[in-house]
Amino acid sequence: MFEIDKEKCIHCGQCIRDCSARALEFNDEKIPVINEDKCFKCQHCLAVCPTGALSVCGKKPENSDKIYSQDPEMILNLIKSRRSYRHYKAQNLDSERMEKLKNMLNWVPTGCNFHKLHFAFIDDIEVMNEFRDYVNGKIVKSLTKKPVQAIMDKFNKHLKSFLNGDDVIFRGAPHMLVVSTPVNAPCYNVDPMIALSYFELYAQSMNVGTCWCGFAQFCLMVMPELSDYLQIPKGYKASYVMLFGDPDIKYARTVQPEPFEIVSVKKGEFKKQGLKDKILRFFWNLR
Ligand SMILES: Cc1cc2nc3c(=O)[nH]c(=O)nc-3n(C[C@H](O)[C@H](O)[C@H](O)COP(=O)(O)O)c2cc1C
Repeated sequence: MFEIDKEKCIHCGQCIRDCSARALEFNDEKIPVINEDKCFKCQHCLAVCPTGALSVCGKKPENSDKIYSQDPEMILNLIKSRRSYRHYKAQNLDSERMEKLKNMLNWVPTGCNFHKLHFAFIDDIEVMNEFRDYVNGKIVKSLTKKPVQAIMDKFNKHLKSFLNGDDVIFRGAPHMLVVSTPVNAPCYNVDPMIALSYFELYAQSMNVGTCWCGFAQFCLMVMPELSDYLQIPKGYKASYVMLFGDPDIKYARTVQPEPFEIVSVKKGEFKKQGLKDKILRFFWNLR
């Protein structure tokens, strides 16, 4: 699991310093050794070693990518120009960009490095159309049946559009990505959102349109058969959905959002709270 090239090791101890699991220590020869039980496979030791002396979990330093310095203005422009795309070309994305998008997902961070996300792609428009027709058909049926109407409340105001045959949920997207987590993942509610956020930015940097899809996530919740269709493993819960594909719209400029509330906390801001305030804040935080 852990190999050191003694010729290359300069005994700097950076791998030990950066091991958050404290799984590494020097032996008598000042060579790092590992306690495998503690290691949680984050590979920081491999990444930090200045001489590439260290292999871990079967990963060799020569197979890692180089790190380039990025242009922060370009990254900020990507963040600002990201949009929710609701118009797509009815065609498959080329396989090169599809593969790049899939591969990128292996690099998204997860809490405690619990590397067990599941990504279900609909990467073929024919499959997407089958999925779309099934879901839309079911919704139209349920919106016209009284008892189910209450559950489908979310869609009632779109009834006319559904009956018109508008693709209210999937926006005509040729592709969809569903991310799921094991229900016991330490950060089950956060990891999937991080993954989709990275996916969205990388996709849009390659001119692939994306749209977060709360509607589709709701459908996954109320139509359990969809999880089987998407091959989501047992013990996993579908967390969120992103539509994507070649956009059929082009944005000429960024938007100018209303600012959020952003505060800088100053020293000595701790206030004496009454018991009632403490209790209220406690339960508010638990929500
Ligand atoms: C968590 C989340 C869920 C969303 N769900 C949907 C959706 O179901 N359908 C849709 O058309 N847009 C959806 N959106 C897109 C938002 O409506 C969109 O972000 C907002 O209108 C601002 O537009 P922009 O993303 O282009 O800045 C969702 C966005 C987020 C972040």
